[in-house]
Amino acid sequence: MNDWDQLAVSWDGDEIIRSYASAAFASLEQVLAAHGMALPGSRVLDFGCGTGLLTAFLVDGGAAVDAVDTSAGMLNVLRAKIKTHGWTDVSATSELPVGAPTRPYDLIVCSSVCAFLDDYPAVVAQLVRMLRRGGLFVQWDWERDDPDDAHGLTRDEIRSALTAAGLANIRVQVGFENTIPGYEETMRPLLGEGRLP
Ligand SMILES: C[S@@+](CC[C@H](N)C(=O)[O-])C[C@H]1O[C@@H](n2cnc3c(N)ncnc32)[C@H](O)[C@@H]1O
Repeated sequence: MNDWDQLAVSWDGDEIIRSYASAAFASLEQVLAAHGMALPGSRVLDFGCGTGLLTAFLVDGGAAVDAVDTSAGMLNVLRAKIKTHGWTDVSATSELPVGAPTRPYDLIVCSSVCAFLDDYPAVVAQLVRMLRRGGLFVQWDWERDDPDDAHGLTRDEIRSALTAAGLANIRVQVGFENTIPGYEETMRPLLGEGRLP
């Protein structure tokens, strides 16, 4: 059992986490609109999907979603949701498909996962190989502006990983500002995006 497995059962009960997913999806809708893209009929990879909070918004938006996460506990929660909601266009697996996908993704999203990866640039490069030409990659992560801070990513780290992976039209900026009543801190995660030329 890994640390994420232990968090899985209470994950959806956390108002801050739910609010983050909702705000991330709202920011994604803006990014999609800016690129002239839409969810209905699209094929999406939700990498580091957790319990599928973002997956649910994507499915409701009309996308077919492959959700991937290394935590069995998180996947169990998502699989229960798939069953309950009768989602037929969602898969939940612990590993990325091997080799070139038969049908590349229109969109790949990584919500609060990239900063936890052992080799973030290598994983982004692997993910980008699964995008169709013109496909969009979007990630959200806490900004690490203090070099001594163990968590998060800097804007330069994101820009450099997305560039090295072959993406173009790269933008890295605050993805959303979200304040939850009763909580002091405003969430201001970075959103990194790029398209495969
Ligand atoms: C902060 S949680 C975010 C979960 C979800 N995206 C959300 O916003 O609710 C980070 C997730 O990344 C997953 N994760 C960590 N390393 C991973 C890896 N190498 N491959 C896939 N998922 C990973 C964890 O299991 C965990 O579910």
